[in-house]
Amino acid sequence: MISEVPGLLEQVRDRFAHIDTCPFSGPRIFFENAGGALTLKSVVETSGLYASYPDNQGRINAASTALQTAIDKGRADMRLWMNAPDGQVFVGESGTEVLFRLVRTAALGAEPGGTMLGTTLEHPASRSAMSRWADVTGRPLTLVAHDDATGTVDVEAWLPHITPDLRVASIVHTSPVTGISVDVNRIVAAIRDKAPDCFIIVDGIQHASHGGIDLEALNADGYAVSPYKVFSRHGYGIGWASDRLTACTKETLVGSSPTGWEQGTRDAGSYATFSDVVDHFLWLGGLFTESTDPRTRIEAAATAIHAQEQILAQAMIEGTHNQRGLADIPGVTVLGGLDNPGREGVVSLTLDTMDAASLVQFLEDREIRVHIRKNDTYCGNVLGPLGIDTCIRVSFSHYNSPGEVSRFLTAMNEAAGA
Ligand SMILES: Cc1ncc(COP(=O)(O)O)c(C=O)c1O
Repeated sequence: MISEVPGLLEQVRDRFAHIDTCPFSGPRIFFENAGGALTLKSVVETSGLYASYPDNQGRINAASTALQTAIDKGRADMRLWMNAPDGQVFVGESGTEVLFRLVRTAALGAEPGGTMLGTTLEHPASRSAMSRWADVTGRPLTLVAHDDATGTVDVEAWLPHITPDLRVASIVHTSPVTGISVDVNRIVAAIRDKAPDCFIIVDGIQHASHGGIDLEALNADGYAVSPYKVFSRHGYGIGWASDRLTACTKETLVGSSPTGWEQGTRDAGSYATFSDVVDHFLWLGGLFTESTDPRTRIEAAATAIHAQEQILAQAMIEGTHNQRGLADIPGVTVLGGLDNPGREGVVSLTLDTMDAASLVQFLEDREIRVHIRKNDTYCGNVLGPLGIDTCIRVSFSHYNSPGEVSRFLTAMNEAAGA
């Protein structure tokens, strides 16, 4: 895996901006990837370049043609990366906005009546969109309860709620609080079985950087990704919509293409920076497969990323060399359990002897950046039922090193003894 191939982790790290130093506070280990991953240096360069171009699309000149080419390439790269030969890919304002738009279009486009179904694990983005559009369309919204112990929601919990009159369903692919993934393929299949026409919207925002996406296999109707969580930058969201969902009435300019989801002048830089992300996957995957097939390389990259993150998670929980891991540090509780096969790059925890705000500061003082999660709009759905007011979230990616985990464990052992 990445850190086991001599020199590879260094090569990977060298591709990212601010890998070990915060531009504001100095040296630090970045374990705040779930809040926004590190940015590829190529994305930084591309962003600057495209921000400098004054031209617009739709003109007959070389600059305009170049911008349109970048947009077309970005769309093709998004399709490749998500394995989405059908439907439409589009760029919106943010992951939240894309989710609202997908849910709104589905709720207004579905046959009247019936019900809507989500889960208690959803991020407020999809939960709020489902709640608003259930209200507006006069449909009851039911939330399938997630399992507090495992931090996920499985198909068995969904089954009793899936009825033939289901019109819209939302599923979070991975929880940003517990970091545990959901078996979306089985849930979509179960919904299709009983309610084949239900519009199914998947929030892939937390999952996207960890595992790989295959929309053809998923058979959903909508999927949302936030590029700043997948090594690109802030300022845009990516959506995919099935042909069926695309055929529903949407907000578009009168006389424009009925398949178009996008509104207004495009920021060609957002598409170009996503091509940089896909290039990173192609580069990384190329080191793990001899295949020249782009999709095979993307899948190989996703496997390598996932494997590297598993190594880091295991080291964090079980310890490294002579260091006690989280499992053996007195007073530590890990959300979702210690041995959870669905874990994707996140370990959320509490320490009995120190409140989460103090622990975040304790780690920051030792140059380790993590985030506090509170029983609030964003995390109350997970923390409330556990009776926890606050926890810390330690989130990592394929560019983090076993050495960084080791420094984190040193600090955690110190915190537990403090
Ligand atoms: C699972 C999930 N959904 C939605 C969002 C919102 O995404 P954005 O910040 O792009 O609006 C987040 C952000 O943390 C998330 O983790």
